[in-house]
Amino acid sequence: DWTMASFRQEMVQRIRDQVGSEKVICGLSGGVDSSVAAVLIHEAIGDQLTCVFVDTGLLRMNEAEQVVTMFRDHYNIPLVHVDASEDFLGALAGVTDPETKRKTIGKLFIDVFDRESHKIEGATFLAQGTLYPDVIESVSAKGGPSQVIKSHHNVGGLPDYMKLKLVEPLRELFKDEVRALGVELGLPPAFVGRHPFPGPGLAIRIPGDITPEKVATLQKADAIYLDEIRKAGLYDAIWQAFAVLLPVQSVGVMGDARTYENVCALRAVTSTDGMTADFFEFPWEVLGRAATRIINEVKGINRVVYDVTSKPPGTIEWE
Ligand code: XMP
Repeated sequence: DWTMASFRQEMVQRIRDQVGSEKVICGLSGGVDSSVAAVLIHEAIGDQLTCVFVDTGLLRMNEAEQVVTMFRDHYNIPLVHVDASEDFLGALAGVTDPETKRKTIGKLFIDVFDRESHKIEGATFLAQGTLYPDVIESVSAKGGPSQVIKSHHNVGGLPDYMKLKLVEPLRELFKDEVRALGVELGLPPAFVGRHPFPGPGLAIRIPGDITPEKVATLQKADAIYLDEIRKAGLYDAIWQAFAVLLPVQSVGVMGDARTYENVCALRAVTSTDGMTADFFEFPWEVLGRAATRIINEVKGINRVVYDVTSKPPGTIEWE
């Protein structure tokens, strides 16, 4: 696509003009936007860029490893991987209110990112994967790691990295254009085509209190669900699909024994911008296969339900 190819060239030149010989820090969230921004900036200025990936431990199964492997081994981009999952899970212990979860994660993220960015000597620019919709309005006013870097309204004093100059090469793009640019830059299509993922991650898909065990259980159920959706060829027809681990136990039978375990809710919606959404009309057999596998393969879940709420009146996430 020559349009994307020429946009890429133009952006590379603009980044070089803006940054000169100075150093840039880029916060990676594990998502598509910050990844595309990082690869583009790396193409422009090479090792003047250092990426900082704060791993909250709340991403989908294996995604943290995938990001690290892709950046380090495939692109050779200098990357600081901060495994802060214990800090995040510690800070979230006993927290059940959805907004308190968001604030807890957002605040800790700022602290960790600020600490790590101090270690990158001489950096004068902060790169962000801000998109055009983030500029004009905001789903992103909600916060969470990917947005926290962007919005400074909810913090007392400015962390030092907020004083850095900004590089935002995706500011004029919509999501589908970012995906096209990502493919143009050689990112795997399956990576750039991933469903949107909220900054606070799995924390807002575990109503009630969060434990490491619950996160691990949810990651397994979610991975099976997405696997069945991919196998059925439905992934790209869906805006967002994910599992939610409910703080509800129900009775089941397994062989001769009675079980008393958690309920998992499956959610899938179609949407164009996330502002409104319809529940996705699955063929029953796809849901049936996902449910059977989750119950058989994931310890701690013995019942699966499907969420048929549209937005409005529901939200896409459960919290
Ligand atoms: P809701 O649940 O409000 O979500 O219908 C709309 C879209 O926004 C995402 N979302 C968030 N993204 N931080 C984020 O970065 C958040 O706190 C947050 N809450 C919801 C959600 O996944 C959906 O795509």
